[in-house]
Amino acid sequence: PIVAVIAGGRNSEHDVSLASAAGIRRALSTDYDVLDVRIGRDGSWNIGGHRALGSAEAVAEIGRADVAFPALHGVNGEDGTVAGFLETIGVSYVGSGVVASALAMDKRATKLVAESVGTRTARSYSLDDVRRLRPFPVIVKPVTGGSSHGVSIAHSAAEVESAIGGAGQGAGVLIEELIVGREIDVVVLEEADGALSVAPALEIPRAPGSVFDVAGKYGGDPRFLVPAPLTGDELACVSDAATAIFRALGCRGLARVDFFLDDRGFVFNEVNTMPGMTELSQVPAMVAAAGMTYEDFVCSLVEVARS
Ligand code: DAL
Ligand code: MG
Repeated sequence: PIVAVIAGGRNSEHDVSLASAAGIRRALSTDYDVLDVRIGRDGSWNIGGHRALGSAEAVAEIGRADVAFPALHGVNGEDGTVAGFLETIGVSYVGSGVVASALAMDKRATKLVAESVGTRTARSYSLDDVRRLRPFPVIVKPVTGGSSHGVSIAHSAAEVESAIGGAGQGAGVLIEELIVGREIDVVVLEEADGALSVAPALEIPRAPGSVFDVAGKYGGDPRFLVPAPLTGDELACVSDAATAIFRALGCRGLARVDFFLDDRGFVFNEVNTMPGMTELSQVPAMVAAAGMTYEDFVCSLVEVARS
């Protein structure tokens, strides 16, 4: 079978996507014919090493694939746009569909969904709230960002205003209460029969109140605790919350659901419908702790998408 692995994209996580896709192509190469598809930063398509002359050629080439693996992170890729393209040309694909991808890309919309299934989220503030309530420190992030690009912690209204500039105005910014707690990630996986499972949860150890930022994510060897040292009750609680959010959003295939754990319990942070899949990323570490090799995991995602 032919798998079109789609990578790159017109967004700030372009390079992370290339790294995720390199691992995915390697993992698939034994069992599948891999079609290497890249979306340039300028939106051009390169297919199997050749620049596609236009969208008709991209449609024809990708249309030959039995299944697509959109290894894309961020806007113009993980946000439902590529899912919509693949739906339109009738190619099945790994991961979530249009609506779940779009909802999960918008951190404000995702929080509403998480709250609707009873999960606590960080309190959000408007710029007026910030000036009036002075709830510092707060965290400022782009509504549709990823890989912590544009995220900063602000200690005054002036810092919030400059952080808003740094976060980019695109789809807006989110100003939130800074949750000081442990950072816990859960990967939810959909089996071929539609049942959901979770791999052992992972903790990202870091100084309280700091951000697991771009340098920490991709600058070297991020040290994770997996399985996360949680009590049985905590593990059940966070796994149930992750599964409920996956279902409420209507995710498919896989998603990484990220939380904080403070002295009042778990706080939902965000969902990645196509989480980082580089060798240094959280999901491969969690899947390994579940006893599955990276290769078997990637192949199983493709098989679930084909089923
Ligand atoms: N958005 C990046 C790729 C991640 O969460 O893994
Ligand atoms: Mg993300």
